[in-house]
Amino acid sequence: MNDKEESREIRQKIRSVLMNEWDPIGVKDVSEAAGEYDSYLGDVYRLVVENAPASKIANYLRHVEVDRMGLTDAQGTPLLPDNVRYLRCNLVEGATAKVAHYQSWTSYIESYMMQATAEIADRISTISVSSTLKVSADADRLRREGVDVVDFGAGEPDFPTPANIKEAAIQAITANFTKYTNAGGTPELRQAICDRHRQDFGTNYSPSECMVTVGGKHAIFNLIQALINPGDEVIIPVPYWVTYKDVVNYAGGVCVFVETNENTGFEVNAAMIERHLTPKTKLVIINSPSNPSGAVLSKKDFRDIFDLASKRDIFLMTDECYCHFLYEDQPFSIAAAPGAKETVVVAGSLSKTYSMTGWRIGFALAPAEIINAMMKLQSHSTSNPTSISQKAALEAMRGPQDSVPDMLAEYRRRRDFVIQRLREIPGVCIVVPKGAFYAYPNISVAYSGGKVTNSLDFSSQLLAQAHVAVVPGEAFGTNDHIRISYATSMHELKRGLDRLHNFIDTLRA
Ligand SMILES: Cc1ncc(COP(=O)(O)O)c(C=O)c1O
Repeated sequence: MNDKEESREIRQKIRSVLMNEWDPIGVKDVSEAAGEYDSYLGDVYRLVVENAPASKIANYLRHVEVDRMGLTDAQGTPLLPDNVRYLRCNLVEGATAKVAHYQSWTSYIESYMMQATAEIADRISTISVSSTLKVSADADRLRREGVDVVDFGAGEPDFPTPANIKEAAIQAITANFTKYTNAGGTPELRQAICDRHRQDFGTNYSPSECMVTVGGKHAIFNLIQALINPGDEVIIPVPYWVTYKDVVNYAGGVCVFVETNENTGFEVNAAMIERHLTPKTKLVIINSPSNPSGAVLSKKDFRDIFDLASKRDIFLMTDECYCHFLYEDQPFSIAAAPGAKETVVVAGSLSKTYSMTGWRIGFALAPAEIINAMMKLQSHSTSNPTSISQKAALEAMRGPQDSVPDMLAEYRRRRDFVIQRLREIPGVCIVVPKGAFYAYPNISVAYSGGKVTNSLDFSSQLLAQAHVAVVPGEAFGTNDHIRISYATSMHELKRGLDRLHNFIDTLRA
């Protein structure tokens, strides 16, 4: 049975269960909770939207989003993957709602129906929900329930955006810089990005080889869509940042994973990559420092990989999201290597460097032909990155840079603490991160007790029982690890690592 037929069958089963509707056992007014309402497994609810024009009710109901279904039929046969967690409803402004408490699965089923009957395009099934965002959502949900959660999941700096950058945005609003801009960003910002990259790394890009995007993720998305044809192979070292895989799949490309070894610090080198090259290889993706492992490629290895790729006209994408957060080496860009501009594509981001995750500004530096293709795509998707954020980004590029070493110093302090605490947990192995702000310990020692057997179970039980949110290694292509983001306060790190230590002790007992 193919996916489509299976989906059709599931829908039919759901329809038959729906015929058997149960009466509500209670009704709760949730109008006050405008915005969101969560219900939980075992407490099955049905959302009834009131005060909304009849013609719009279907639209309102579509705001219901079901997370992780876990339905079974009367015989207990699973209809959908397990782990029903919650039902989230976003109410449109002006609508009020009542939630009827049911004893059956009805509301889950109905909500699923709304999704299933939408006949979603096949290409969407090639991607999955970003696990990192999912962890944040799960942690958030528990927090709203009143649980004291320590969040090591979020990959974002806990520092505020520097004041000069915020001020530039305020001035942009005051000066009415609030309209569309060029699709690829304002000429002055493109120039400023080229200038900053030249100053920091000694590269030599001009604005026609630069575009501004809605975050670094968007630069990567645009690039892959512009470059990868169905069947093209893309080399991705493991562990990898979650998004690469999905974006390549979405373009119809084929991910070719290069396994690395934690005993050698998750290092990747040209020989390892060469073994995976075929005539179909179009692109190699390198992320140094790496999210999730914090591994940093040496200049020599980076050069060797570039030489290997360029000799065969294979593109090399360097994801420089964390390039300023290095604990041992000086910041470095392979784009500065002689001849690199022809085949190297830089995906850059202001999110981490200037603590600007919410502003959504990233950029790409690449041959003008590729930039033009990416801009064509961007002009039909986002039109342009937000004008106000672009002004803020201009200040980030041209203004004082002292916030960056200040943040790095604090990350170093936290990294050293996290490593020390992880080493105190018997059996846990940790490769010392040389960059970024993540630790990627091997926690497989906890599997020995038989209570959990993989990083997914480990992480969900850690959250449920010890109230610590981490991202399972599974999201990054390994099964024995968890990712701990130490972009959080020392106070939280202490609390969370105490809990993690106890939790692992309990699992092993
Ligand atoms: C390795 C890596 N690349 C790119 C990004 C994209 O960041 P943004 O879209 O916020 O600029 C991230 C964000 O977490 C990342 O970890």
